[in-house]
Amino acid sequence: MSGEIPAADSFVVRRSRVHGMGAFAVRDIRKGEVVAEYVGERITHGEANRRYGTIHVNDSHTFLFTVSTRTVIDGSVGGNDSRFINHRCDPNCEAVIRRGRVFIVSTRRILAEEELGFEYNIGREDDDPPNVDELYACRCGARRCRGTILWPARRPARLAKERKGGEPSRSPPRPSGGV
Ligand SMILES: C[S@@+](CC[C@H](N)C(=O)[O-])C[C@H]1O[C@@H](n2cnc3c(N)ncnc32)[C@H](O)[C@@H]1O
Ligand SMILES: [Zn+2]
Repeated sequence: MSGEIPAADSFVVRRSRVHGMGAFAVRDIRKGEVVAEYVGERITHGEANRRYGTIHVNDSHTFLFTVSTRTVIDGSVGGNDSRFINHRCDPNCEAVIRRGRVFIVSTRRILAEEELGFEYNIGREDDDPPNVDELYACRCGARRCRGTILWPARRPARLAKERKGGEPSRSPPRPSGGV
């Protein structure tokens, strides 16, 4: 990470084969460049659940980023183009949290036109709905795509057993990325 000032104009947003809109390099990006800061309204997890818990029971799409156990950034309020960076199983960027701020940093040299992506690291939870793997299916297209944007890739047996026969969970939205 060469600094905390995002490199100006290193990417543009346009339609992506992965999902919706994505971020594409407009020039070669050196390893370690800060390509963007993930910004938006800073809210609590409770507020994130109030905003998106109901809408997103059948849809994984949000612009949330978990910063800590207290704070979530809602990129749909006051956010910038970094909110369009998709998850990749073979990431060329990573999200680095420094003093509560989130920076998207390149982890290798990225060539112009490449789509930027980082590992969302969305953890599994005990109250995941039965269709969680469908909701979070990964379409990054990487040769070694693990098929899901959740971590770990497979639901641990303990969680699967707990959910068996249970009613669909009203699980809150899953913030994109985070710790
Ligand atoms: C922060 S948005 C990324 C921008 C999004 N493509 C858009 O057009 O709004 C995060 C959401 O994009 C979708 N997404 C991102 N990466 C994905 C992937 N590799 N496979 C499938 N969906 C993905 C998921 O719905 C995720 O919750
Ligand atoms: Zn993938």
